[in-house]
Amino acid sequence: MFDKLGRDITYLRISLTDKCNLRCRYCMPAEGVCRRSHHEMMNEDEIVTAVEAAASLGIRKVRLTGGEPLVKKNIVSICRRVAAVEGIREVCLTTNGILLPQLGTQLREAGVKRLNLSLDTLNPQKYAYITRIGKLEQFHRGLEAALEAGFEKVKINAVLIGGFNDDEIKTLANLTMMYPVDMRFIELMPIQDHDEFGEGAYVPYSRVLEQLPEAIAVPPDGGVAKLYRLPGAKGNIGLISPISAHFCGECNRIRLTADGKLKPCLHAPDEFSLKGLDFEGMKAVFEQAIRNKPAWHGDLDAVNRSRAGRNMNEIGG
Ligand code: GTP
Ligand code: 5AD
Ligand code: SF4
Repeated sequence: MFDKLGRDITYLRISLTDKCNLRCRYCMPAEGVCRRSHHEMMNEDEIVTAVEAAASLGIRKVRLTGGEPLVKKNIVSICRRVAAVEGIREVCLTTNGILLPQLGTQLREAGVKRLNLSLDTLNPQKYAYITRIGKLEQFHRGLEAALEAGFEKVKINAVLIGGFNDDEIKTLANLTMMYPVDMRFIELMPIQDHDEFGEGAYVPYSRVLEQLPEAIAVPPDGGVAKLYRLPGAKGNIGLISPISAHFCGECNRIRLTADGKLKPCLHAPDEFSLKGLDFEGMKAVFEQAIRNKPAWHGDLDAVNRSRAGRNMNEIGG
């Protein structure tokens, strides 16, 4: 379905839970999330009905996110049912990878095509710092499991943070020489609680290119990243620039939160509830949300913060 600015909305991102087995500082508060009653959250049948309603309006790709989607007990069943919805061509997951040794093969068999893994540093102390509770070796085991399970594509996302990992650009980019993965650098977005990051933390994507003079531009893959490749590499370098060069004009996505709110834009406060509705009801709300998609997210920087009104773990990135 087209929004009123002529953008064709074909991509639905669903946050399955706001819970996570890590506590990344740019994403969620140290204390985790408030316990909420099951009745407030979308159940498995409602999630599948939402995907059916979305598919009837032209959604073709679904990405399951969180929080951490793999902490959801029925994750494999949700993936299998969403992948079977008529019209859905691609089901993808964004995960921190920690639970992939247990779940990787089952998820692949359930129909998940592609995985995006989050990794901001290759230094064990820094990994423990940024995730507050994580161990880098768990990520490495998850990456190995992802590569063994035979997904069509594995991408790694690093949030670029000045003074934290801008000295690791080359090291992280070198993962594309060692593994068949894309390595993407994402500009830090200023959202809700993470006011511990000062102005110097907002590093533009151009800094990555300065550090990788040998990188050659390659055609985009349909996603929001500008793509490059190191000579002899097995995967691409991707640059995602929501701050210095936003991509709202070509936005093709809409989001659903774990408590059933459709968000037509990541950084706008507008929300449309699907909770408790049947197929027809959900379809009507999807139409309303897509029609009301904002033109862009407004200025975003250290001073002008996101107007999303939620932390990233509640929206799913
Ligand atoms: P592909 O399907 O591989 O293209 O994945 P993706 O880049 O759409 O998904 P992923 O979950 O890996 O997101 C990567 C980063 O891009 C995260 O930091 C997201 O928050 C950010 N991002 C994704 N979509 C949008 C968007 O519409 N607006 C903004 N501002 N950021 C986005
Ligand atoms: N800015 C940029 N990216 C973020 N992510 C989470 N919070 C932020 C933020 N504040 C990323 C995660 C994950 C993806 C879904 O969103 O690292 O890879
Ligand atoms: Fe689309 Fe909003 Fe993201 Fe801009 S910020 S690209 S309009 S979802």
